[in-house]
Amino acid sequence: MKNIYVLGNWKSNKTLSDAKKWIETYSKNVKVPIDVTVIICPASLQISLFQKDVVSAHVGLQNVSAFETGAYTGEIAASMMTGIVEYVMIGHSERRKNFGESDEIVAQKTMNAILAGIKPVVCVSNLDQVKSLQRLVLNFLQTGLILYEPLFAIGSGQADTPESANVAAKEIISVLGAVPVLYGGSVMPDNVGGFTSQEYISGVGVGGASLDPEKFIAVILSASHAI
Ligand code: PGA
Repeated sequence: MKNIYVLGNWKSNKTLSDAKKWIETYSKNVKVPIDVTVIICPASLQISLFQKDVVSAHVGLQNVSAFETGAYTGEIAASMMTGIVEYVMIGHSERRKNFGESDEIVAQKTMNAILAGIKPVVCVSNLDQVKSLQRLVLNFLQTGLILYEPLFAIGSGQADTPESANVAAKEIISVLGAVPVLYGGSVMPDNVGGFTSQEYISGVGVGGASLDPEKFIAVILSASHAI
């Protein structure tokens, strides 16, 4: 039975009380199947609410600095994350588009995360972005995940087909080697099983549907092959 990752990306959402309510409902109701690894990526401000003994999930951040520690106002360096989070998302299409993150910056951030012992979840939307990671391959493969998100599918309600996402995942693996590839873009409880049953897809990234704890739990359960 393959391991399936379900990564929830809260993006720039939730007040303190929203986050507390989400965690309370999720913790009370979730029963994570044995073949699923849940990773929740809230805003960095909310990380301290996610204590391992309270929440049944691994925790990640949504971004990391391209620089190490020092005079970089507003940034969080990878080494500052060590011991606090296990994963960090890098190069989400919203960061590439709104914050000018180039392939070079994404590669630098990925390297910083690896050196700090944080597992990178590198987001890509096309094969050129995958190829730009090739020089990191040796280090990357030990810990990293790839989150493949076609642009048309993000936040649109129009998910890719599982078959076409599987072809993309296969191509990514042919470039980078045996890295887990997750699909993201309008993943919902009723379509997630189609993706996780594909040969080359090792999980899903969930934006909108992760904001509601009940819906997120439904995604987790439907992603599993163990129940
Ligand atoms: P969505 O977002 O699930 O709301 O489409 C996915 C993502 O951007 O990671």
